[in-house]
Amino acid sequence: MPEGSPKGASGKWAGRKPRLYILTEGAKQNEEKDMPEKVVRIGVIGVGTQGTRHIECFRQIPRAEVVAAADIDQARLKEVCARYEIKAAFTDYHQMVKEAEMDAVSIVLPDDMHLEPALAAIDAGLDLLVEKPLATKVEEAEAIVKAAREKGVRLMTNFSNRWQQPVALVKEAYVAGDLGKPVYVYARLSNTLMVPTEMIRPWVKRTSLPFWLMSHTVDRVRWIYGAEAKKVYGISRSGVLKSMGIDVEDIYLATVEWDNGAFSTFESSWILPTSLPANIDSKMMFIFTEGAAYFDAQAAMMEMASKERYRIPPMLSTSTRGRIQGFVIEALRHFVDSVAERKELGPSGEDGLAVCRITSAIVESAQKGKAIEL
Ligand SMILES: NC(=O)c1ccc[n+]([C@@H]2O[C@H](COP(=O)([O-])OP(=O)(O)OC[C@H]3O[C@@H](n4cnc5c(N)ncnc54)[C@H](O)[C@@H]3O)[C@@H](O)[C@H]2O)c1
Repeated sequence: MPEGSPKGASGKWAGRKPRLYILTEGAKQNEEKDMPEKVVRIGVIGVGTQGTRHIECFRQIPRAEVVAAADIDQARLKEVCARYEIKAAFTDYHQMVKEAEMDAVSIVLPDDMHLEPALAAIDAGLDLLVEKPLATKVEEAEAIVKAAREKGVRLMTNFSNRWQQPVALVKEAYVAGDLGKPVYVYARLSNTLMVPTEMIRPWVKRTSLPFWLMSHTVDRVRWIYGAEAKKVYGISRSGVLKSMGIDVEDIYLATVEWDNGAFSTFESSWILPTSLPANIDSKMMFIFTEGAAYFDAQAAMMEMASKERYRIPPMLSTSTRGRIQGFVIEALRHFVDSVAERKELGPSGEDGLAVCRITSAIVESAQKGKAIEL
């Protein structure tokens, strides 16, 4: 058997060397993980669902310390700060960025509220992690990027899906030349009705599917391809949520043509039935000239049924015996390492701006009923 063949390989597998991909961006950084720790003092702005997740992850990252938190919901702020032993609590984030001794902030406010805290943090000279989408208006995303560049602070847009193993593996295989040239991607990222009707009900009308969900899938493809969008066509339909008194579209479909010659379809809805075994439906199909890749983030590695509920637990970000694992914590670890070691970070503010341009064009195209050239 040739050296490197899978054990017992014969027939079509004989002679095929298993390929070990070298992680493109993370490898060097991970090797240096055991360096002496510099603790990065972080303030979290917004302690809702995702802000609390940030705090839980930062608590498990050795060189991160959450020293302050801000939220206008006083009761929630008090409860979260008590639960996670955060000493400084602020109902006004302006006060927090002025008074708290911090190195960085993470901004985890509703999609349309990232500009003001970002500018306040930049003005205070703090490095910042801004949740996706960087903004829901191109002018706001531009203002954040410009201010960060002028002040010389680090700005990361939290496109955490870049740390999902299947997404990273496709990028590595493509960069290694194993798949040929990009031809087409189909990307679905959808939610059940729980998301617009419960989870983000207070501010759902101030965002839309292209910002809330497609920003992730557009970033995945843009990052893997290393390409820019040229032309966008979007189409949407509404009715289900409007009939429930929530004035937002139910579903969006978009085609994007890229400057590498490939094109892609993005599909997102948030009216899937809550009886589904997971709140997220995420699937991708990549076609290259010499290869293809498929992934289904909800494919059942395990199924669990209790008396009340059947579910497929999310395996790409999970917690095992109290230890958080997966893409959500890895994205935050990357931010902390970059701030501690004063290294370049990505996804950058510029990535957030580029995705904001594409997702804004999807909304505009759906409204106007015609394609938008970028
Ligand atoms: N990267 C990811 O995978 C991911 C996942 C979920 C959410 N997100 C993003 O995180 C952000 C927050 O989403 P969420 O689901 O946590 O929302 P949420 O509604 O659960 O939390 C928002 C919090 O902001 C607080 N807030 C509102 N206005 C404020 C103000 N002026 N000052 C201080 N606090 C204020 C609210 O009281 C609330 O606690 C959104 O941009 C969302 O798109 C990203």
